Amino acid sequence: PPLIDPMRPAYHYTPKIGWVNDPNGLVYYKGEYHLFYQYDFESIKHGNMSWGHAVSTDMVHWTELPLAISYTDEEQIFSGSAVVDSTCSSGLCASRDTPVLIATYTSYKQHVETEGKWKDRHIQSQHIASSTDLGRTWTKYKNNPVLDRNEAEFRDPRVQRLEDGSWLLLVQMSELHQLQFYKSTDLIHWGEPISTFGPTGIVEGVWECPDMFPLAVDGDPKNIKWVLIININPGNRIIGSAGQIFIGDFDGTSFKNDGDYDWLDWGMDNYATITWDNAPNGERYSIGWMSNWAYTELTPTTSSTKFRNTFTTPRKLQLKTIGGKVRLTQMPVNYLDAIRLGPVLQADKVTVKDAVHGDNIRGRAVDIEVVFTNVDATEFGVKVHAGEGQETLVGFEVATKRAFVDRTKSGKVDFHEKFADSRHWAPFELQDAKTLKLRVLVDHGSVEAFFGEGEIAITDVVFPDPSKDSIQFYAKGGSVVIDSYSVWQMDKTNN
Ligand code: FRU
Repeated sequence: PPLIDPMRPAYHYTPKIGWVNDPNGLVYYKGEYHLFYQYDFESIKHGNMSWGHAVSTDMVHWTELPLAISYTDEEQIFSGSAVVDSTCSSGLCASRDTPVLIATYTSYKQHVETEGKWKDRHIQSQHIASSTDLGRTWTKYKNNPVLDRNEAEFRDPRVQRLEDGSWLLLVQMSELHQLQFYKSTDLIHWGEPISTFGPTGIVEGVWECPDMFPLAVDGDPKNIKWVLIININPGNRIIGSAGQIFIGDFDGTSFKNDGDYDWLDWGMDNYATITWDNAPNGERYSIGWMSNWAYTELTPTTSSTKFRNTFTTPRKLQLKTIGGKVRLTQMPVNYLDAIRLGPVLQADKVTVKDAVHGDNIRGRAVDIEVVFTNVDATEFGVKVHAGEGQETLVGFEVATKRAFVDRTKSGKVDFHEKFADSRHWAPFELQDAKTLKLRVLVDHGSVEAFFGEGEIAITDVVFPDPSKDSIQFYAKGGSVVIDSYSVWQMDKTNN
């Protein structure tokens, strides 16, 4: 019989075997969401990187496809993006004026020959590949690279089409903490940078995997703001990999941020987050790698485990005015509702005082919606993956006004000294000083918490014992009223 690995996620995508890191080449085309990703199918550590591939019509049920763009003896295929060249501006379509998918990625060459000598120096340059069969097979362009500045830390191109039909490319000068902008009419000739952004915000570690996109503030098409995502490693306020965001304006040439940076996610495990190009109805959906370079190669595996790492639940991004400020909000895509199974556990108006509620609620893969109100406690929230000696908490500290996820007792934590040395918290205001709306997605190895409208997200991986499957609402130092809650068991989608 096949070995069932209790740690494989129920509804988060991961390929059948191998190692994954960054999502790549997110593009919607002819009814399919494409998810490419950094993939080493031969090991469960970062090794020879290729682009793996999965497709979905709803970002929830994924079909794994054969390797898309493969490493060779000469090069590895690092992160990048994909676009629909609907006008065949690249000339790489099958016949005139038929659309073609173009992937732009970083080619990483480990040893470069300079002046007749082999030097121990690597080169990163930008290459393209094309697909005329719905992304199933890819041909590397014969005149690669399309952008080469003889740089060692120059990566993660993000291409998109602007309203005037020209192509924009964002690429990181990773160690300089500077994002470069380029323009092209054909996806092949990029010339010199038209502008740069940074160094600014967090300038620790390296800058990686950029993304930038417009959104209508509060849905008002006359009030467009641009969101810039800069992934940084290590740059998290505690340790490790994290995303910083800037909100501002893009005039077709350069980006100017309105204020300070903010964190995309306040947990430890949402990195290399980027968004789908060309999604229907102008919607913006994101997905991140659900791990952290600080400890990703040390995370526990079982003997049957031939995989390591997974991705976040795809999220819908919006800009909303909250507390007088324009905030980026993220919430799981609506498609996820379709895999909520019965029986739904629901209750209204339960008072919890210095105690827990829900001893009979169980589940290792659940979707929880809860509204807490009349807060008169020092701390309250929900415990998941709970049982004798283990629990992961999602909650709120009242005096310090901090939303948090606490995985200090979440199961296996001792594989890295910083994995569970503190709570992962974020500043948060209760609504009308008394109400908290909370959504929590729990899977076998992860917790994704969305506070309020999703202006705060906290994403953490956990390694609990599979027998610890209780879900309990709790209050400490007083009472809280659960206005309502629902707990849905989630269907298995990707196993
Ligand atoms: C980010 C990253 C990228 C790079 C890729 C290599 O996690 O380091 O900058 O392209 O991973 O796998």
